[in-house]
Amino acid sequence: MKVLLINGAPRKNGFTTELLSIFKSGVLEAGGDPIDVTLRDLDIAQCNGCFACWFTDKDGTCVQQDDMSNLLHKFLECDAMVLASPIYYYALTSLLKTFLERLFPSTAVGLESVAHDRPDRLAKRHEKMGPKKTVLIALGAMRSTRTMEGAVSTYQLVTDGIGATSAGILLRPEIFFMDFAAGKPVTNRKVREAFKSAGAELIKNGKISDKTQKTAALPFSKNEALFRKHFSTYWTIAKELGLNTADRGTIGKVAAMDLRILMHELASCFDKVAGKDLQAVIQFKISVPDSNWYLSINNGNCEAINKLHSAPTTTMTLQKKHLTEILVNKKDPKVLMKSGAMKISGSSRLAARFSRLFPPPTG
Ligand SMILES: Cc1cc2nc3c(=O)[nH]c(=O)nc-3n(C[C@H](O)[C@H](O)[C@H](O)COP(=O)(O)O)c2cc1C
Repeated sequence: MKVLLINGAPRKNGFTTELLSIFKSGVLEAGGDPIDVTLRDLDIAQCNGCFACWFTDKDGTCVQQDDMSNLLHKFLECDAMVLASPIYYYALTSLLKTFLERLFPSTAVGLESVAHDRPDRLAKRHEKMGPKKTVLIALGAMRSTRTMEGAVSTYQLVTDGIGATSAGILLRPEIFFMDFAAGKPVTNRKVREAFKSAGAELIKNGKISDKTQKTAALPFSKNEALFRKHFSTYWTIAKELGLNTADRGTIGKVAAMDLRILMHELASCFDKVAGKDLQAVIQFKISVPDSNWYLSINNGNCEAINKLHSAPTTTMTLQKKHLTEILVNKKDPKVLMKSGAMKISGSSRLAARFSRLFPPPTG
């Protein structure tokens, strides 16, 4: 099965490219024949709306001779087409939209007959007109998929318009969290696996299962408040680093180890049952680099605060690299205590309960 993988992202090495390449690995594994198309590297002008492709002596040929001529052949000959786009301002990117508009020469004057409740559809110019199956990969920064609705709707209409059937829609909200999902390792792995499985399912079954589509869109943040916190921290880090978003790799790596994210994730792992009646403050005195965080536990709730508390129940003094071992690698603090990498003052009983109060994330 020839699968045209259309990358509609303007940014190099972004999440669109990453998700598409994971999808492609599934296509390859299942024996499919992927064809990469990176729109930003091609010279494709806007459709100028002249309708010459319908009426000249070379019907079906665009008057504009650019990279679309070659791409139109690829479109006509493929069996499946994957449209991958970041959401830009509630829509598919203009790169992708331009590509879709320039498919116009594959249509001819006239309308196909469709059921009265279906959208109108132009006649096809060619016997073999393009893919029989389509897939949408859409990703965005927001937590809700509401801002993706326009893109989904466009994709569905285009699929219908070219006479194809949708094999599945993979939406990936909270996309930036893919880089720092240390607090959500299980979900992160599941999401990546779903994108790979989707590629394989397209080849093997001509359809991506509902389960795979749902898994691809699993939430990374536990709730809206945590999402908002992480969202703003991510952009604060980007600003602090003085980089633009094109350097996604660096921002992601720094964010993955940033205590402003990890400590709030840790607080969200608090086991309300294990700490039901507990009232306590666990202070982290962090050296190299200096910072102080405490966890305030009260009435089954836990909050992370970036300060030194005046009367903590327990104080754990350690370097940041050791704290991240607890937070990211889920190392039991007892191991660090034994090795001397962490010093405890105050209640050592509370320190000993730490792993039960903050179990590793299951999601
Ligand atoms: C101009 C612009 C508009 C955007 N609009 C939305 C939006 O409406 N909804 C959303 O969830 N994300 C939106 N985003 C976030 C992008 O979808 C996000 O940056 C995505 O990672 C870009 O893909 P990339 O990593 O392949 O570059 C927007 C980003 C830009 C630059």
